Amino acid sequence: MVRKAKIIGLGSYLPKEVLSNEDLEKMVETSDEWIVTRTGMKERRLAARDEFTSDMGYRAAQRAIEEAEVGTEEIDLILFATLTPDYVFPSTACLVQKRLGLVNAAAMDIQAACTGYLYILSVAKAYIESGAYKKILCVAAEKLSSIVNYKDRNTCVLFGDGASACVVGEGEPGYAIENVFLGADGGEAELLILPAGGSRRPASLETVRQGLHFLHMEGKEVFKHAVRRMEDAVKRCLAAVKLSKEEIHWMVPHQANIRIIESLAKRFDVQRERVYLTLHKYGNTSASSVGIALDELSKEGRVKEGEHIILFAFGAGLTWGAAALTKCGVKSG
Ligand code: ACO
Repeated sequence: MVRKAKIIGLGSYLPKEVLSNEDLEKMVETSDEWIVTRTGMKERRLAARDEFTSDMGYRAAQRAIEEAEVGTEEIDLILFATLTPDYVFPSTACLVQKRLGLVNAAAMDIQAACTGYLYILSVAKAYIESGAYKKILCVAAEKLSSIVNYKDRNTCVLFGDGASACVVGEGEPGYAIENVFLGADGGEAELLILPAGGSRRPASLETVRQGLHFLHMEGKEVFKHAVRRMEDAVKRCLAAVKLSKEEIHWMVPHQANIRIIESLAKRFDVQRERVYLTLHKYGNTSASSVGIALDELSKEGRVKEGEHIILFAFGAGLTWGAAALTKCGVKSG
């Protein structure tokens, strides 16, 4: 029997505190007009001081498990994507595994920055289809506010906190994961980096003084790579499952910049109302961004059976990817 991996439950979580463009105007030399025209963002969410990546991931995961209607003892693997883990080690996957009581699950973190959700989806698909695992919980969560310098206008307007999750298994209803294409180029690693805190530059008074524990991004360069790489990823993903661009019913992009998204929608002739956006209210939530958008689109109930959704993302590494999903089955009762 050919096994087919499907997303059988989705969830997301956004913290309550809102950081608006007007708030940012009071913090750095910027304007609502600049932020909206250059990025499309209006607001983003901030985790509370005592709320961490694992807490947000836990809440999104609870919602995905509930929607999937699976028992926690059935989940045999948890994959966690984040670039802002609670600790360097142990993994955030282990912290969430304990909190959810996933007594039969193995646990690991996978780091692919903003492409994290697609990387864990790809791993989950391979494990389900090989028969190695039966029910996999994928979680992506970020407390980006913990590594953003709120004195740097180049980056602080872009990022927000949040989490998303899905349960991957077999059966219906859900979204069949037709294909996930992944790419990477470590040659451009320094374009988007957290310079210190790892083994190369352990934390010291000097690294703190130099601001090396904040995210650093060469925005213009990243922008160019993002458009080119995501276009290529979507093309390859469509080709692998023999779908034409006319068969894209929905686009769920990484929510990094409205200009990047519009340029890609145009290249694939996808109408604006078919491109799902959350960046105006949540900003760029890195690994969790695609998953939050997918969950919200799904819960709006507008995706019909047989329709295809293309997800795509790009982030530090550099990493990028695209996934093709097909809605299948309708919930009974
Ligand atoms: N408010 C006002 N002015 C600003 C701001 C701000 N918030 N930020 C930058 N500026 C200024 C710059 O200082 C610069 O001024 P100068 O010309 O006097 O030097 C000017 O605006 C233009 O700056 P650019 O960097 O050229 O602006 P750009 O149009 O490229 O937009 C942005 C910047 C929004 C960051 C864009 O480059 C971008 O979105 N890049 C891609 C981000 C991305 O895709 N990230 C994906 C992964 S994220 C991850 O993995 C964690």
